[in-house]
Amino acid sequence: MPAPRTDFPLLAANPALHYLDSAATSQKPRAVLDAMTEFYATANANPHRGAYALSAEATQRYLDARERVARFVGVADADCLLFTRGTTEALNLVAWSWARAQLRAGDEVVVTGMEHHANFVPWQQAALATGARLRVCELTADGRVDLDCLRGLVGRRTRLVAFAHVSNALGTVNPVAEIAAIAHAAGALAVCDGAQAAPHLRVDFDRLGVDFYAFSGHKMCGPMGIGALVGRRALLEAMPPWQMGGDMIEYVGDESSTWNALPHKFEAGTPNVAGAVGLAAACDYLDALGMDHVLAHERALLRLATERLGELPGLTIYGPPAAERSGVLGFTLADVHPHDLATILDQAGVCIRAGHHCAQPLMRRLGVPATARASFYVYNDARDVEALVRGVRHAAAIFAGAGA
Ligand SMILES: Cc1ncc(COP(=O)(O)O)c(C=O)c1O
Repeated sequence: MPAPRTDFPLLAANPALHYLDSAATSQKPRAVLDAMTEFYATANANPHRGAYALSAEATQRYLDARERVARFVGVADADCLLFTRGTTEALNLVAWSWARAQLRAGDEVVVTGMEHHANFVPWQQAALATGARLRVCELTADGRVDLDCLRGLVGRRTRLVAFAHVSNALGTVNPVAEIAAIAHAAGALAVCDGAQAAPHLRVDFDRLGVDFYAFSGHKMCGPMGIGALVGRRALLEAMPPWQMGGDMIEYVGDESSTWNALPHKFEAGTPNVAGAVGLAAACDYLDALGMDHVLAHERALLRLATERLGELPGLTIYGPPAAERSGVLGFTLADVHPHDLATILDQAGVCIRAGHHCAQPLMRRLGVPATARASFYVYNDARDVEALVRGVRHAAAIFAGAGA
């Protein structure tokens, strides 16, 4: 296990808890909680605004946090990392600022059939508002993006291709550079949803080849309410702001206004400095563990869980083999509803997710209303897998009895 449970106060306080819902949100290490408390206890002031030393200190902490987070995701130009509330807000920023200004009737936006609603609905609605057309790339039977389908869909009308780096429901790790190359060959932008990637594998934005990359702090040991959009400077500079208010302006006249430089143009209002500081501490924490170890550890648990659960009759696992995914295990057990399964597991202290995982287009393609999802992270170990397997066996026995 790369991270001791004792680093995580909630897990340390609940030794019998088997937390297998880190794809929804991760637990937070003490180091992150301490960094946030320390900011509020020693440096709290509104950044950018005060002419006094304490405000300058808060401004510096915010600046340092941006540079730290930018380094974590391989961004050399830290001003191109915009803090947002999370992935949802980051993707909406592109959809509202870029897409609504740029799309015209007849244009096309391509998404894949495995997207989280956060990377589907903003494009669908931007297309509806502008007269553009949303096209959905189909998946292969084992839950990958069908690249032949993608090549067929992306053409001279395509303005933007939006896709997940890692699927939240299947765990599929997508070939980002290849998908970006398909988009760019048609002159379209590539937007990547990294919500399920940044917590689990090394992200190097400057090498990925995408134009925009979004992620959330709370899934990667950081606090809720902070995340980021990374974008190419030329695009961000050309885009209009999407939220208006303090900090994002240069000059406000009675009739019109001009905009501040990056990153401020896209960060209206008082920023979440404590959140940014906490996210920077999370980057320190994950880097100390080593992102290669993080992914290797998750995959080892995923392989173990796949083998053990695979022995159960009626169990279906969705997505590609363990070596090609993150630590996400989506499954169903015969005709047991995933919500019933999750409730039974909860009685044994096993937290899993059940439902459509904010991916209804994917559920339609899988032909199921819902799946159960166990997701592994740095603090999980083989005991958590065993508890999961025991719980699923128990559920199978209950439903076999009920059916008899
Ligand atoms: C793939 C993916 N995209 C986007 C999101 C939305 O993230 P947030 O709710 O942090 O904005 C999630 C959250 O589960 C996700 O898994």
